[in-house]
Amino acid sequence: MRLFSLDERLLTCAGLVRDGARLADIGSDHAYLPVWLLKTGKISFAIASDIGENPLETGRQIAEKYKAENIDFRLGAGLDTIRDEDNITDVVIAGMGGEVIAEILSRSGLAKNPELNLILQPMTRSDELVGFLYENGFELKEQIALNSKGRSYTVMTARYCGKKISTSSLFRIVGKLDMSDPESVRYIGKKIKDLENKSRADDSARALLNELRLMINENN
Ligand SMILES: C[S@@+](CC[C@H](N)C(=O)[O-])C[C@H]1O[C@@H](n2cnc3c(N)ncnc32)[C@H](O)[C@@H]1O
Repeated sequence: MRLFSLDERLLTCAGLVRDGARLADIGSDHAYLPVWLLKTGKISFAIASDIGENPLETGRQIAEKYKAENIDFRLGAGLDTIRDEDNITDVVIAGMGGEVIAEILSRSGLAKNPELNLILQPMTRSDELVGFLYENGFELKEQIALNSKGRSYTVMTARYCGKKISTSSLFRIVGKLDMSDPESVRYIGKKIKDLENKSRADDSARALLNELRLMINENN
């Protein structure tokens, strides 16, 4: 059977998984990401983990349909399903709110392994996630903005370094995006629109909005 294609959002996540990784895909749902990575030979082993039995069952069916081997399905919250002996090297947490991703990381000792490559794709509240990461000893390695089916997304990689740093509101929004990339400008443009609605009644949102507009103008 011909392998399916990933959309741009999941393809970007897949591109940040290291070759030969032992992957945990948390909130895997349909398991498209680990199945695709296994079938293309980029990784050797994956755990598809989800809090819901129904999504997990969908994932099992996709793995069976495409005959993906070396994939374990685990039911449970966040990283609770991952054990030390799984020797996971890379974790993807995609398609959830930034605050949910932050909560998952905060509840896990395993996430504090500096060797672990964390690939995070918040659908909303990416600023909350970036703030959480730095305040809790994680650092961003890289951040990408992308467009998939007309919608703007961000994907970031992070790792635990143990250094706790407080961040500015501007940094929490822009993070490590390369502002010379037009997709980053589009992504920040979306954030500006969100803030415009908020700023009518909020002075700090208005100040942040001005900083963002200035930054966009300086880079273009
Ligand atoms: C919108 S889907 C995202 C699927 C896939 N990761 C993607 O990006 O396309 C979100 C999935 O996360 C699962 N989920 C939500 N909270 C979770 C948690 N705390 N731990 C594990 N899975 C969770 C949901 O059951 C759902 O299947």
